[in-house]
Amino acid sequence: MRIGWAITGAGHFLKESVEILIGLAKKYEVTVFLSNAGEEVLKMYGLFESVSKITGGYYKELALDSEQSFSYPITGRLSLGKYDLLIVSPTTSNTVGKIIHGIADSLVTNCVAQAGKGGVKTLIVPVDLEPGDVETVLPSKLELDKCEDCEICEAAELCPNRAIIPKTEIDLLKCIGCGNCKNSCPFSAISEGKIITIHMRAIDIENTEKLMGMEDIHVLKNPNELKEFI
Ligand SMILES: Cc1cc2nc3c(=O)[nH]c(=O)nc-3n(C[C@H](O)[C@H](O)[C@H](O)COP(=O)(O)O)c2cc1C
Repeated sequence: MRIGWAITGAGHFLKESVEILIGLAKKYEVTVFLSNAGEEVLKMYGLFESVSKITGGYYKELALDSEQSFSYPITGRLSLGKYDLLIVSPTTSNTVGKIIHGIADSLVTNCVAQAGKGGVKTLIVPVDLEPGDVETVLPSKLELDKCEDCEICEAAELCPNRAIIPKTEIDLLKCIGCGNCKNSCPFSAISEGKIITIHMRAIDIENTEKLMGMEDIHVLKNPNELKEFI
């Protein structure tokens, strides 16, 4: 079986999705497609390297939106029906909003559009599913109330990408989620995987409901449902 797996820029369901992706790549030929935000967020959560490692070779590429151009020729494989399945997990509210309006102006939204044209079954795991609040996990964060503003910030010194601005914040666009900072700060001022509660917007829930009504698209509630489906 040949699978296309697209990842968008959602922290929610990201770790769970990557775990299942890695398992599938052991058995099947998997091409990974990353939205620009997907690439950034994977790095922030320290998961980019694990995803890179499972890719390599024809039909096992790591296709980055940041390396594509406007017409996304690689997604033509989906319109030619070269994949048995396209999975988009996790799927941001932004990408769901585009898909339900037929917009295909990014790598991942193009994958979905071309899969529809090529009769490739598409499984989508949206992060905004039901009204109310959900708990989600943050990448590394500098907790200012614990930061002692040391003369030499050990966490900043050990950061391979100079992502830490002492007594201020972590520049997440530089962070690769390696965890060095968390382990080196003597005051435990860096949290990793902190759980926060966020509120689901009504418009995002409505969009997910519309997604459920789209032909050739199956909406799953959780990445774990992918295993059963496959
Ligand atoms: C650390 C982090 C976590 C994020 N998590 C989510 C999320 O869980 N759900 C979501 O809809 N957007 C999330 N975003 C925002 C998206 O990355 C942003 O809307 C982006 O433009 C989506 O682009 P894409 O749909 O092309 O991937 C997150 C952003 C950051 C920096």
